[in-house]
Amino acid sequence: TGTMKINAKNHLEIGGVDTVDLVQKYGTPVYVYDIARVKEQADKFKKTFKQKNVKAQVAYASKAFSSLALYQILAKEDVSLDVVSGGELYTAIQAGFPSQRIHFHGNNKSESEIEAALDYQIGCFVVDNFYELEMLDRLSREREQMINVLIRVTPGVEAHTHEYISTGQVDSKFGFDLNSGQAQKALQSIAGMPYIELLGLHSHIGSQIFETEGFTMAIETLLKQAKQWQEDFGFELKVLNLGGGFGIRYIPEDEPLAIEEHTTAIIESVESSIKELQLSMPEIWIEPGRSLVGDAGVTLYQIGSQKKIPDVRQYLAVDGGMADNIRPALYDAKYTGILANRANDATEETYSIAGKACESGDMLIWDLPLPKAESKDILAIFSTGAYGYAMASNYNRIPRPPVVFVENGKDFLAIKRETYADMLRLDQSINAE
Ligand code: LLP
Repeated sequence: TGTMKINAKNHLEIGGVDTVDLVQKYGTPVYVYDIARVKEQADKFKKTFKQKNVKAQVAYASKAFSSLALYQILAKEDVSLDVVSGGELYTAIQAGFPSQRIHFHGNNKSESEIEAALDYQIGCFVVDNFYELEMLDRLSREREQMINVLIRVTPGVEAHTHEYISTGQVDSKFGFDLNSGQAQKALQSIAGMPYIELLGLHSHIGSQIFETEGFTMAIETLLKQAKQWQEDFGFELKVLNLGGGFGIRYIPEDEPLAIEEHTTAIIESVESSIKELQLSMPEIWIEPGRSLVGDAGVTLYQIGSQKKIPDVRQYLAVDGGMADNIRPALYDAKYTGILANRANDATEETYSIAGKACESGDMLIWDLPLPKAESKDILAIFSTGAYGYAMASNYNRIPRPPVVFVENGKDFLAIKRETYADMLRLDQSINAE
């Protein structure tokens, strides 16, 4: 994908930069991002909406991966931003991201997070529950400050995805329930909130979605509901936000839809439903996370110890693992990889790739065909750009790896490698005053 290729030295090259050189410069493990790929993915969403003349906002879901430099790049890409915490909001503001293009998510935003967002005058709150709505009403009156909101609803659609990461079904901690009348009550109560401007509805049906049906079902449900509410109490749907969840390829068997296909299906479904229901066309907002950064990211590790259990398995250990990629352990997520320093060598062995953390569950890949590997070989694991660094931890007091952006033959250190001293910065010694 993107600008990744095998160069004349038989090395994996990304963004015109040899990964073996990157390892020499930055050490391992290291996360590498193909920035041209991130931009390319964002462009596909934006272009499809533009070609179809649909007013839209593409809001990058920060939780997939955030950093000052990424936010600065995205600010220029003319995308919006979905943040889910005071920390993501703070990072975006520090990066100089235009606050009017920031949307604030979360099922338990604190008062201080909301106040910060109000101070920065962000573009929109995606309201999740009555507790939040009442807080927004009170704070907006106190400040005499207008607030734009979307109401998040659970449309009862469950996309075909891993159970742990489904959020669109009825039994979910997120959003207002449609069927029991919660959502309607929320919308009607906004009529009495002088500083709250209701833009429309939000739903997110899940992650790593490979079909269009889930989105189509959610669209039909939401638009039908919107029509009913229009007739009942004059509700006007200006914005329909369909969340994120567009799937990517982790392993060769994954067959994700092209971004253009997903986007086109969404547009056509909205257009046909509004025609049928005689509604006016809302703006369509989406919140892709994984599909913008996921397959742009590669993690480079150095191979260390090996263990061969005759007739059972060969383990190959790398200098990272669940501390920098929790997804295999947490979701049973699958990845693939190659030896970056001997990229085209014939695969003659099957290895299971172990991390260095002290638990058996710290396995990154089971049964990966590779050339016969030696210590100091470099293993590149693909599609680690989403929810890799973002979910990294210091488990076992392992420092977090650096993040390097590559583009047009140049590399840029976006996040430095954590040091042992960094990990101690919050620790208090008993002997300290
Ligand atoms: N919008 C909302 C409201 C969401 O909850 C999410 C993801 C997204 C957008 C972005 O979804 P994406 O396009 O990245 O699939 N840690 C898990 C994924 C959890 C996603 C939670 N919400 C993983 O590593 O797979």
